Amino acid sequence: MSLESLRSPAGTHDVLWPQSGRWEKIIGEFANLARLYGYKLLITPVIEDARLFSRGFGDSSDVVGKEMYVFEDRGGRTLALRPEGTASVVRAYIQHRPVLPWKVWYLTPAFRYERPQAGRYRQHHQIGVEALGVDSPELDAEIIDMAMRTIRTAGLSDIELLVNSMGCEVCRPTYEELLRAYLAGQVESMCGYHHEHWNEVPLRVLDCKTSECKAVTDLAPRISEHLCADCRVSFDILKAELHALGIPYTVEYRLVRGFDYYTRTTFEIISHVLNASQNAVGGGGRYNGLSEVLSGPPTPGIGFGIGLERLLVACDAEGSLQMQSPSMDIYIAELVHDAEVSVLAGQLRRAGYSVERSYENKSLKAQLRYADRLGACVALIIGERELAAREVVFKPLLSSDEQFTVGWDHVVQEAGKWLERWKKH
Ligand code: HAM
Repeated sequence: MSLESLRSPAGTHDVLWPQSGRWEKIIGEFANLARLYGYKLLITPVIEDARLFSRGFGDSSDVVGKEMYVFEDRGGRTLALRPEGTASVVRAYIQHRPVLPWKVWYLTPAFRYERPQAGRYRQHHQIGVEALGVDSPELDAEIIDMAMRTIRTAGLSDIELLVNSMGCEVCRPTYEELLRAYLAGQVESMCGYHHEHWNEVPLRVLDCKTSECKAVTDLAPRISEHLCADCRVSFDILKAELHALGIPYTVEYRLVRGFDYYTRTTFEIISHVLNASQNAVGGGGRYNGLSEVLSGPPTPGIGFGIGLERLLVACDAEGSLQMQSPSMDIYIAELVHDAEVSVLAGQLRRAGYSVERSYENKSLKAQLRYADRLGACVALIIGERELAAREVVFKPLLSSDEQFTVGWDHVVQEAGKWLERWKKH
């Protein structure tokens, strides 16, 4: 194979500007929101011991069974590329035992070997938070509020919040038996896959998007009607909190999510402009047993993950979060090369202005064309004469103002005044 045909692997993407400008905006706003809600950045390795995920998610989850990228490293260890962010956070918590409550946010690539299609990739990226050490529906509502705000900062409006309770180790087993008994009488009506596999994890039938299984589960027992007293109270407080915060929601009894670690509150934010089979822009929930499953101390936890690519597909469909046009404060058109020009560029950048220059011997015309492409507001033209006279020609590019000359020592100040005035208009 010729190396010229090298491409990013199927289901993965390069993100170039101006597309990456939208990522910058969402990530920047999310980092700010995280600060406002008291979350600190956590960075964990993208490779983990594969057992973290097989234990954490349960062997029956699709991610472990069909989608995980697992490999043996040169030292014979079985590692996995992280398919999501939560398990790594809990692993880091168990390893470092930070003081509780521990509230962290992250931005991570996640890898799942899925059939690539719009909004479903083999490498996607999530922004998310996890809060460990607090078991309170007030926190659950706050986390949901934060997820909704994040999605709204991207300008999405045609969205719906789905909530459910998955119960706990007290009430879930009884519910699962009820569901199993109901489904046992419906096997013939299920989709091809669940006709064979429904009994492995009956809860997954609720999540099945086929019309056959949907018809079957229409009349299935609903977990929200079989919660123990503690889970019921917790779910009632969650709904009251959402109501008080002015966050509309729909109770969706089919919402069981794809990982076994969830307990009590689960939620998803779906976009109505996306195809129903992958319309979740973000999702999350409580996982009060996960730390213990991973041999850590009993520690409640809750969090969410939002898929950046999925969010942007929804933005495209809604026409929100437009690509930005290029912009740059200052372009230095240099017709001579002198270290003084580098010093000036450094001074301007230290003063907070974005500055680009050509570095090469190009004609003034070619340089100004490039400045135009960059969206530069101003060009500073420096030739032999200007260098000798210690001045620069100040040429406004985005307005019809005449060019003028500024003394070298006043350039930073003059540029500041001029740009401020121009940006106000
Ligand atoms: P998840 O629902 O599997 O949850 O993923 C979160 C979000 O990541 C989804 O809502 C979707 O936007 C995006 N996503 C998932 N898979 C793909 C894919 N193949 N291609 C593109 N986007 C995708 C979790 O991962 C949990 N860790 C969330 C959580 C945090 N629960 C508690 N804390």
